[in-house]
Amino acid sequence: MNTHIQMTAARVEASFWRFSVAPMMDWTDRHCRVIHRLMSRHALLYTEMVTAQAVIRGDRQRLIGFDAMEHPVALQLGGNDPALLAEAAKIGADFGYDEINLNCGCPSDRVQGGAFGACLMREPALVGDCVAAMKAAVSIPVTVKCRIGVDDQDPESALDALTAAVRAAGVDALIVHARKAWLQGLSPKENREIPPLDYERAYRLKAANPDLPIAINGGIKAPSEWPAHLEKLDGVMIGREAYQNPEILLQADPLLFGQEAPVTDAFAMLEALEPYIAAHLERGGRVHAFTRHLVGLFPGRPGARAFRRHLAERCVGAEATLDDLRAAIAHVSRHEAAAAA
Ligand SMILES: Cc1cc2nc3c(=O)[nH]c(=O)nc-3n(C[C@H](O)[C@H](O)[C@H](O)COP(=O)(O)O)c2cc1C
Repeated sequence: MNTHIQMTAARVEASFWRFSVAPMMDWTDRHCRVIHRLMSRHALLYTEMVTAQAVIRGDRQRLIGFDAMEHPVALQLGGNDPALLAEAAKIGADFGYDEINLNCGCPSDRVQGGAFGACLMREPALVGDCVAAMKAAVSIPVTVKCRIGVDDQDPESALDALTAAVRAAGVDALIVHARKAWLQGLSPKENREIPPLDYERAYRLKAANPDLPIAINGGIKAPSEWPAHLEKLDGVMIGREAYQNPEILLQADPLLFGQEAPVTDAFAMLEALEPYIAAHLERGGRVHAFTRHLVGLFPGRPGARAFRRHLAERCVGAEATLDDLRAAIAHVSRHEAAAAA
């Protein structure tokens, strides 16, 4: 039973944002989120970005449908029109999401074409209007995920201006991807690697806004790195590492929430996943909807390479079954070994 839903009327505790998995287009779909949830009860899981227009006009079940076991789960919206964002936020809240997040960090051409995402770093007043409109429409937390600036902006003043605007609008938390985005000349992928990370800038923001929950994102990998960030601010958000090496999620509950992980290891997670895959197959879905998110499992274990090959060769087509996945798993040694697979 999700307790977070009941916490929504009052201000949510900052610990709600202590550990989260980042929104990632094409990656953090509902099947991926089920896999992640099976490894951490507490991680806050973000959807891929969905534009407000799509939520309002599109096939909602397909775009934003999710399984109850995914809670706590946040819907990330893209857009820059306060009225449309408010309408989409309301739809998301009615769907049962635990938080609505506004994307102010994505630099892709498609997003720039619509003048939202990271472009919004230049429009703090508009972002404030968007947050105010969403806050008026829903009673769940409304948050913003941003960069520290774009292009030639000064990260000190740019991030302060955005923060002041969204604070005034009642934002519940801020997630700072602690690097700039370059809107011209860099691909989205390069924009996650080339502009240097500046964690200190995020720490300074928290020091200046002690009562605003602030989470940090960008380049955070090993669980051993997480606690140091949490000494300076309220949350860590993990993107690529959580997707590419999902077993790190097994450490979130013990390390950050004082609780055992829901399962002991990836093998146990895969057993727990079977009913979800079976239900998906019953509805006419494919095993691949899940197995495409599993290639990062078992790093360094004997048999991991054979596991990945089996997934690629036998678990992609419409005819693939749970037995094909079980056969892939059977390649992997249950004993950890130093030798790389
Ligand atoms: C494949 C991919 C898709 C992404 N899609 C989104 C998105 O939809 N919305 C968003 O705010 N950020 C998106 N991001 C950025 C991540 O949320 C995160 O900010 C970034 O990867 C830095 O964190 P990391 O170093 O932990 O990966 C995406 C990143 C990747 C790798």
